[in-house]
Parts: sequence; structure tokens; C-alpha cells
Amino acid sequence: MHAYSAPAKIILFGEHAVVYGEPAIAAPFRALQAQVTATPAPYGSGLSIIGAASGVTLHVSPANDTPDNALIYAAQLVLEALGKPPPDLTLELRSDIPIGGGFGSGAAVSAALMRALSAALGAPLSGEALNALVYRVEQLHHGTPSGIDNTVIVYEQPVYFVRGEPPQTFRVGAPLTFLVADTGVSASTRETVGDVRRLYEGDQAHYGAIIAEIGELVRRARALIEAGGACEELGELMNTNHALLRALSVSSALLDHLCATARQQGAYGAKLSGGGRGGSLIALTEPDLAPALAKALREAGAVQTWLMQLE
Ligand code: MEV
Repeated sequence: MHAYSAPAKIILFGEHAVVYGEPAIAAPFRALQAQVTATPAPYGSGLSIIGAASGVTLHVSPANDTPDNALIYAAQLVLEALGKPPPDLTLELRSDIPIGGGFGSGAAVSAALMRALSAALGAPLSGEALNALVYRVEQLHHGTPSGIDNTVIVYEQPVYFVRGEPPQTFRVGAPLTFLVADTGVSASTRETVGDVRRLYEGDQAHYGAIIAEIGELVRRARALIEAGGACEELGELMNTNHALLRALSVSSALLDHLCATARQQGAYGAKLSGGGRGGSLIALTEPDLAPALAKALREAGAVQTWLMQLE
């Protein structure tokens, strides 16, 4: 038996606009992980996937139709890529990544499962092959994903990402401390991405300008992160990015309230992270302020908080 894992991700700047070709900055979030163990099963029993928390067992057939279930689809894509029939194997899945929390749970679960299955078949997938297959599962979850979630989760590196281009890594001039908070509200990225698309198609001049403004802000954020030590300006950019996401309709009263609370408590800036309308937010903070900030955010309605260091 061997365990394979993949981390969650946090988008620091540029979600949603990234779907329209603007850059975004994201980092792996290792405090939360999806993990899959592979155990040989008795001869003839086939391939099954067990959810450790739910106890639900799924059987993977070598079917050709795209299934509704993302786990079955992830397994079938690996079998198809490797040209193998389902082995006699049990894959057991554990994940502490909240679903619909803006943490890339779907991509992390797919990546861990595909790593476990390909390794058990004696043909571990390369990063590039894995990234391409996880992206196909993301399409099932999200419709028109930019590819940022699978990229940061598969390569486990902070990335500056532009849709359709190879991901770029960047230098972090001085470590940055973020407090990550979960609203506890599960939200569908497919829905928020679809709603932004409808707004954009209804008024391309207005929403296109907001999207372009987010792109410009991400380019400035990258330069500031690389230069190091510009927490105040970076915090301002986070606040502006949040306001622009709000103008794209993907914030919520709770996200606005938690971001305002973080700023009142002395954070340099705060914004929602990921698909929005729920899910998570991030606040840039001095490390010694973080405990009081975490307490204030929990009192204001966050269900969980974590520290994340970008270095
Ligand atoms: C979701 O983590 C990020 C979005 O920009 C969607 C995407 O990039 O596919 C909201």
C-alpha cells in the first residue's frame, strides 16, 4: 500500500479575469491535502474507489461515455492514456480540503487519484501528462476552467499563470504571510464563472474593462512580490482586486464583512480567493498580528483559519 497526495491551492490575485486571458498568481496551500492509497484487490474484483469519509464505493468500468462522476472519469482517463484495462485495485480517498471552498479540491483529488492509479499500473504519469488529464476532469467540474487550479496543484509551485501559456515561476523578494479563512459556505465555481460570462456577454465594454483592470493589477502585484517588502502596496492591490471581483458579482455579504474585519484588525489588505460567493478569503498580515486576526475572523463568521507563508 502506498499513499499519493496533492495539495490545495490559493489564488493570490487574478481569479475570474484569468478565464479571459489575463494573468493570475496562485500558490500551493500545503496545510490542506487530498490523499489516495492504492491497495491490490482480489483477482477479478476490478477497480474500485472508496471515499474514506463517506464510505461510498464506486466501481470503475472501462466505459467510453464520459461519466457524471469526476472520480470515475479521472480513473478512466488514466486507463485510456495508458491503454490498460481496469486493474484489480482499491483506491481509498481522504481529503481535508473543503469542497466548494475555493481551494481547488476537485483538482487535488483528481491529481492524487491519478498519481496513485498510474503508479499502481507501473507507469507513473509525468507532470505534463498529469496536468493535461486533471484539466480534462476540471472541464467536467467547471465547464471552461482557465487551467490555473490543475497547474498549481500538479506542479506544487507558486505560479504566474496565463491561460494557454506555459506557467511561469517567479521570485519572492521577501516572505509574505497570509491568513487564509474559510467562510464555510460552499459555492459552485461553474456557477460563478457562468454568471461572469453572462455579465460579460451582456456588456463587454463595461465588464471587459473590469477584467483588464484586474489583469493590470496582477502584473503590478507580481513586480511588487518580486521586489519584496511592499506589503502596504500589495495590500492595497488586494483590496482593489476584491472590489473588482465584487463588481463582477462574485463576492458575498459574508466575504465583504470578513475582508472588512481583516482590514480593521490591521491586515494590509484582504480579498476573496477562488470562485467566490462563499469559499475562502486571504488577508496579508504581519506574522505577529496573525493570531488576533484569526480570532477576529472566526468571531466574524469564518469557520476555520490557517497561516500561509509565501517564500
Ligand atoms: C477558480 O479557482 C479560479 C477561477 O478563475 C476559475 C478558473 O480559473 O478556471 C474562478
